[in-house]
Formats: sequence, C-alpha cells, structure tokens
Amino acid sequence: MKKTIALLPGDGIGKEVVDVTVDILKAIAEHFHHQFQFNYGLIGGDAIDQKGTPLPEETIAICKDSDAIILGAVGGPKWDQNPMELRPERGLLALRKELDLFANLRPIKTFESLLDSSPLKKEYVNGVDFVIVRELTGGLYFGKPSERIVHEGEDAVVDTLLYKRYEIERILVSAFEIASKRRKHVTSVDKANVLESSRVWREVAEEVAARYPDVTLEHMLVDNAAMQLIRSPKQFDVIVTENMFGDILSDEASMITGSLGLLSSASLSSSGLHLFEPVHGSAPDIAGKNIANPIATILSAAMMLRQSFGLEEEAKAIEKAVDNVLNAGNRTADLAEDGKAVSTKQIGEEIKNALGDDHAILNIMEAYS
Ligand code: IPM
Ligand code: MN
Repeated sequence: MKKTIALLPGDGIGKEVVDVTVDILKAIAEHFHHQFQFNYGLIGGDAIDQKGTPLPEETIAICKDSDAIILGAVGGPKWDQNPMELRPERGLLALRKELDLFANLRPIKTFESLLDSSPLKKEYVNGVDFVIVRELTGGLYFGKPSERIVHEGEDAVVDTLLYKRYEIERILVSAFEIASKRRKHVTSVDKANVLESSRVWREVAEEVAARYPDVTLEHMLVDNAAMQLIRSPKQFDVIVTENMFGDILSDEASMITGSLGLLSSASLSSSGLHLFEPVHGSAPDIAGKNIANPIATILSAAMMLRQSFGLEEEAKAIEKAVDNVLNAGNRTADLAEDGKAVSTKQIGEEIKNALGDDHAILNIMEAYS
C-alpha cells in the first residue's frame, strides 16, 4: 500500500516524539511491504518564528495532499506573551477548523504492567477501557464574540459557547456508532442544570439514542463525571461531550492509566482526512532532553494505520510491541523510579525491535506449515 503522511512535529517535545514514531512507521512499512511517504509541515511556535503565522498556507496544502496527518504538540513559554492570534495553539485550532476535524477520540485503557503507576488504587483501574469522544470544532473554543468589552460601563470580557444543532448531532452519532461496536453504553456529559446549550445537547442525545435501540444512553453532569472518573472509572464505555468539558476530562482521565505520556488520540473529519496526535502538550520543561515518553504518539500512529488506512494487523503489531516493551520493564522518566528511566530514543528502539518478534514467529510458522 502506498500512502502519504503529513508530519507536523510542532514545538517542544513534539519533534522528539514524532521522530521516534516515524522510525517505527518506517519499520512497519518494511515489515509489511508498504510505501509511506512523509511530508513535513510547520505549525505552532516554529511556524510563527519562520513564517509569521501559526498555520502557514503551505502546511494546510501539505495536509490536504496527504492521506493522514500526524501532529506532535504546539506551544511554549517563548510565545506566551504573544497576542491570541499569534499563539502556537491557534495553529492547531485553525487546522482542526479548516479540516473539520470534529470528532476527537481519546481511548483510556490501562496497561496491565503499569497498574502500579496510577495514583489510583490498582483494583479501581485494573480493566478500565473507555473512549472519550470530544467535540472538537465548536463550543467555547470557537464562539464569537471572544474579546474584552465594556459592559454596563465596566471593563468586562466575553467568550461565547455556540453550537449549531447539526454539530451536536454528528458528534453524538459518532459516539453511538463507536458504542454500538463496543459495550453499548454512552455517557453523555453536560451541564444541563445550568447551560441552555447543554439542554439542547440532551434533547439531541435523546433523539440520536432512539436510532440506536441496542445502545443505552445515560446523561451525567460534568461535575459528577469528574468525580465518577476517579470513584469508579470502570463504569464507562463511551463518554461523549462538548469541546471544553472533553479537554478537561481527558487530562483527568489520563491519570487512570498512569501518565499523560501514554494517551493517543484521533481527530476525525467528515472528509476522511484525519489527524492523529498525542493528548499531551509540548512539555517545554523537558524538551530537547531525550526523556519524553513517545508512546502516546506511537499509539496515535497505530490508530492512524487502523482508522485511515484499514491496516489492522499493522496497528496491532505496534500495540503489541508497546505492550511487550512495557511488560519487559522499560519506562521513560514519567513512569520510572528515580535513576531507572530509559530515553525517548531507547524506548523507541525497543519498540521497533519488538515489532519484529511476532512477525518473525509468523514467518517461521509459515515455513513449517
Ligand atoms: C488538547 C490541547 C489543546 C486543546 C490546546 C493545545 C489548544 O490541550 O488537544 O487537548 O485545548 O484542545
Ligand atoms: Mn488538552
């Protein structure tokens, strides 16, 4: 199979984790006889420095010419004082909007070998397996006006939470579709006791639920959901929620698995051109030190192989290799005991080598059958 992949490493640890991921994708291409072509684009702070904008036109063109996109991370203290439209985060938000990447899937699944890494008790996190389906192109992130104003003669500020009905509907449909292939339970998270937008969200959720008779729908207020994620995370199968709630809850949920450095995500569009990125940010404090955990990005690449290219076996090979490498005790600094951490590059090498394991076994079995 021949595929073009846009790579947007971005800022901070983005470059390191994408580098390691590309190595692994090259190994996959070799093992399974595919051709992946990689096209690099600028986004975020780097793009501001070099092109004067966080999302240059060339980057959008590179993405549109590709079959899938892998992004590292954006942001850093260097650009913190910039005006809003010249912040690195704007690049990512504009790309999500431009490509209509409305459905952000964030799987939360514990690794057996990392049960002790979670700050929560083992018996609560063992067996956790759910997906957060976060709306990604609407809500408070994009509503206008979003500005400082004078209101009733006072200095004031306004942000706007805006959703078109169809935007609420399509994200709920995505969640029900996913749930119907899993344990058939959707938890729709809102703040319907306060927000009008949430009341409409509930209405639409009920309408969509009626089309999926074998999937159960539960409504949960966002404050309660934040508590339930810690109290009994195993109750969840698919959580669907609006943009800002999803941003907050997914960082919280990452701690169930032990580290934000493990969480992958897919941002799916209506057009079929999807973007894959780790849930974590650019971590400027550890950037360039070769200590970041690349697993979130590597697992995002596995999601890409499965979701965008239909390469199930290849995706599984990566997931299995990650599992094997963690089982063998390899830990990056976010998960290791003092002094026992392996580097970004080392764990990448381990995962790459582990890729061969099962495939090699398969070849031997074929030879003898
Ligand atoms: C995320 C990030 C982004 C978001 C930032 C970088 C704009 O936190 O993908 O969760 O808030 O969506
Ligand atoms: Mn976030």
